Amino acid sequence: MAAPVVDAEYLRQVDRARRELRALISSKGCAPIMLRLAWHDAGTYDVNTKTGGANGSIRYEEEYTHGSNAGLKIAIDLVEPIKTKNPRITYADLYQLAGVVAVEVTGGPTVEFIPGRRDSSVCPREGRLPDAKKGAPHLRDIFYRMGLTDKDIVALSGGHTLGRAHPERSGFEGAWTQEPLKFDNSYFLELLKGESERLLKLPTDKTLLEDPGFRRYVELYAKDEDAFFKDYAESHKKLSELGFTPR
Ligand code: HEM
Repeated sequence: MAAPVVDAEYLRQVDRARRELRALISSKGCAPIMLRLAWHDAGTYDVNTKTGGANGSIRYEEEYTHGSNAGLKIAIDLVEPIKTKNPRITYADLYQLAGVVAVEVTGGPTVEFIPGRRDSSVCPREGRLPDAKKGAPHLRDIFYRMGLTDKDIVALSGGHTLGRAHPERSGFEGAWTQEPLKFDNSYFLELLKGESERLLKLPTDKTLLEDPGFRRYVELYAKDEDAFFKDYAESHKKLSELGFTPR
């Protein structure tokens, strides 16, 4: 599909959608699933074939029924009324704006949002998102395919400061932190504390401790929340722009 024309009216609708997303996300406490929606739409990007990415294709049944997207139809439906009220905004922009607002309203850093993503009706094949049961080589395969780095992998994994796993969606259970609606560096502090009965650690989370190339960032982000917020904001912006070149 063609790139949207980002004129004054488009920007007006982005502003209104941003306010409506703030209200929706605060009143429903749905920041975690909104961030996961944005990440799963964008995280299918393949830098070599230039396919997938932040293109709104997750709105199609073909894609949201992929195993790794279990539960995300809830988020797709929650933002649909905002799309109806602001019809110029592409789904691709709306989902990424929802991710940025989710981080902002839970106390995280401001992630710069540049509108203009085009929607696609082509869904990627299943299997482009990471498998939580695997280790460092798999994480690198998946994130390098997106064109991202080790630092991006660790900073973005800090997104698990929000939310929880649901047995009926992923087979895992529990939250990563004590306050899953607060965006802070507690994911890294809990990771360094080691196993705990109440909090979740996926195999891919634990990998960040075992691999020295990852661990140095875990240690930095645990002791310096400002460093985490700065790197997170940069990595999230990169993620939100996979497959999109802002003009
Ligand atoms: C939830 C895996 C990276 C944000 C989950 C869940 C799994 C998972 C298994 C539980 C889903 C459920 O049962 O509801 C992974 C793996 C990653 C990864 C293997 C590889 C590094 C990310 C990234 C972000 C992110 C990069 C965002 C920057 C979230 C959020 C939730 C979540 C916010 C909570 C959703 C909710 O509470 O409904 N992730 N994830 N994840 N993930 Fe990730």
